[in-house]
Amino acid sequence: MFKLRNVTRRFGKKTAVDSVTLDIPQGQMVGVIGRSGAGKSTLLRMINRLQQPTSGSIHFAGVEVSGLRGQALRNWQRDCAMIFQQYNLVPRLDVLTNVLLGRLNHRSTVMSLLGLFTREERIHAIAALERLGIEQTALQMAGTLSGGQQQRVAIARALMQNPKMVLADEPIASLDPLNAKIVMDALRDINEREGITVITNLHTLDTARNYCERIVGMAAGRVVFDGKPSELTADAVKQIYGTDRDGAGIDETMTSTSINIPAAAAAKQSAGLQPLALAGL
Ligand SMILES: Nc1ncnc2c1ncn2[C@@H]1O[C@H](COP(=O)(O)OP(=O)(O)O)[C@@H](O)[C@H]1O
Ligand SMILES: [Mg+2]
Repeated sequence: MFKLRNVTRRFGKKTAVDSVTLDIPQGQMVGVIGRSGAGKSTLLRMINRLQQPTSGSIHFAGVEVSGLRGQALRNWQRDCAMIFQQYNLVPRLDVLTNVLLGRLNHRSTVMSLLGLFTREERIHAIAALERLGIEQTALQMAGTLSGGQQQRVAIARALMQNPKMVLADEPIASLDPLNAKIVMDALRDINEREGITVITNLHTLDTARNYCERIVGMAAGRVVFDGKPSELTADAVKQIYGTDRDGAGIDETMTSTSINIPAAAAAKQSAGLQPLALAGL
């Protein structure tokens, strides 16, 4: 069980995250939604310890994450892999090396500095790329790939960390609907097949509804909704997104990029999502 207790983050006078308390069982797929500035990214960054909480505590399996230092902190950051809107690959390195970088926290510094990866690690990396349907890009420079392909490389890199949790900060915000679907399907597949907890910030409500078993709605740093997609009523949506200046409320289509693509095209594209096939490599 993963627990946040009154987690708060202030930047000067601004309270970005305001006393957030959540219990997240292992293996849940959670969507965090809310307006821009609601505190979604800060929340994820505190979980991964890219940012420190001002107060409150974060616990995973009985260990206080918020107090970890040194190697223990690096191990935690390996256990909760981050995926970013802008992919955060090293554009001038080839795809395979980018994926292998997910192993860095598993290995000695000397081996890493020398760029020495074992045969087993390379096989694992290629299998991860195969699973995401992009093994044919292994030797290309990461920066030359399309956005959708780059995000899949980022997911493959995350898988190399053998994470317990994947934290994704608006992973599809820069993608077209077809690639958005491929990336969300990949996250769901990791969640379902490996039982890895996925916490993903999403700027579109329909994606959260379609993919997440639990939705956390944030407004002004606070959790204002926490429940199943079926419980997310129009009133709840209004609480999360507020009303516009005319008091007309929020139309759900405003928060939607709609992953609406013809079924056949989608099936063809996601056919690349193969089971992790180490045998025969
Ligand atoms: N490093 C920072 N310094 C100052 N203010 C910040 C910083 N990061 C976030 N904030 C502020 O905290 C609030 C929440 O930001 P953020 O977590 O990025 O929200 P979201 O991801 O929901 O858009 C915003 O008002 C933002 O301006
Ligand atoms: Mg954000």
